[in-house]
Amino acid sequence: MLKNFWYACEFSSEVTHQPKQIVMLNQRFVVYRNSQGQVIALKDQCPHRGAALSLGWVEGDCIRCPYHGWKFQADGRCIDIPANAPEVPIPKKAIATSYPVRESQGFIWLFYGDLPEAERHPLPTFPAYLSTKMHAAYNDEIECANYARLMEVNLDFAHVVAIHRKSFGQRVPMNKQIKYRVQEDAWSGVAQFSYDSLGDSKTVLNLLLGGRPEFTTTLTYYLPNITLAEIHVGGKGKNAIKIGILVAYLPIDEKTSRSKRVFYRNFLTLPWLDGWARKLDYAMGHEDTVVVETLAEQPMPRISEELHVAADALALSFRKQQQKYLAKGWGLESSRHPLTSATEDATQPVTSLVN
Ligand code: FES
Ligand SMILES: [Fe+2]
Repeated sequence: MLKNFWYACEFSSEVTHQPKQIVMLNQRFVVYRNSQGQVIALKDQCPHRGAALSLGWVEGDCIRCPYHGWKFQADGRCIDIPANAPEVPIPKKAIATSYPVRESQGFIWLFYGDLPEAERHPLPTFPAYLSTKMHAAYNDEIECANYARLMEVNLDFAHVVAIHRKSFGQRVPMNKQIKYRVQEDAWSGVAQFSYDSLGDSKTVLNLLLGGRPEFTTTLTYYLPNITLAEIHVGGKGKNAIKIGILVAYLPIDEKTSRSKRVFYRNFLTLPWLDGWARKLDYAMGHEDTVVVETLAEQPMPRISEELHVAADALALSFRKQQQKYLAKGWGLESSRHPLTSATEDATQPVTSLVN
């Protein structure tokens, strides 16, 4: 798990004037909207006895603790202790930790770390067509697997024929050689792969896709916790069927994650079909999860501790980038890698890591 990044941690629509608890990075956070609708993020732990502020209530721009009613403003400073006379000064240490927070592209983003504002990475920018031309349905799941392991399966072109063999993977030829190039920037990576011949199958999605030979998948990761799969079937024309699967994985701890999934589609866009779209998205995600939960090691091992082939290049790019930041000292305590091995992994070219 990494610090010094913006974490997409909740859908914007889920954050209201009611305090909401978010569990990630082995910690509790509370988010709520103030009277202007701005989002406030605090550690979900009162500095008095440690009660969860998320069980309290919002008063104007402040939140009251559910235990003794201490009142905290947006910067976490306590401004009222009901049991004290008004002239008694508030203890200097009566401050709940506050976090920088932003709202963008349908998500609430919380910055976790100690970097000054000027040195922080910007928020990622997702392809505009997803929000302007596609219809979205949302899912929210708890998964018994490490968040980076779950991200990795979404960066894997080769898993489709096996994990998804009973659903859309039926359309993909088993022995198709997978070769592609990864493009990286400092904290994201993307690769594209096209299938030219697809087999027959009978699921609803596949019937919809029938007779459309070109099938291009673009997979992207954005550190620390987002993957995007863009699946375009039927070329670049107006009639192409497009699906986008954007997932923000909240690392609850090293073995448990929460996935906030957005399933975009440009077909069957009537809102009453969102339930069907959610089920479809859940089914595809679940096929991944049941296998990822069985991995012998949940926290990501060192790159050299596992085998890799050329088709793993995007996942390796993701791992190397993680290692790069771990080697900078941006790992949280529960991260499995000792910093020396992180440096080792981060400095090797991807080609030298393929067995
Ligand atoms: S525990 Fe929060 S006010 Fe006492
Ligand atoms: Fe998958």
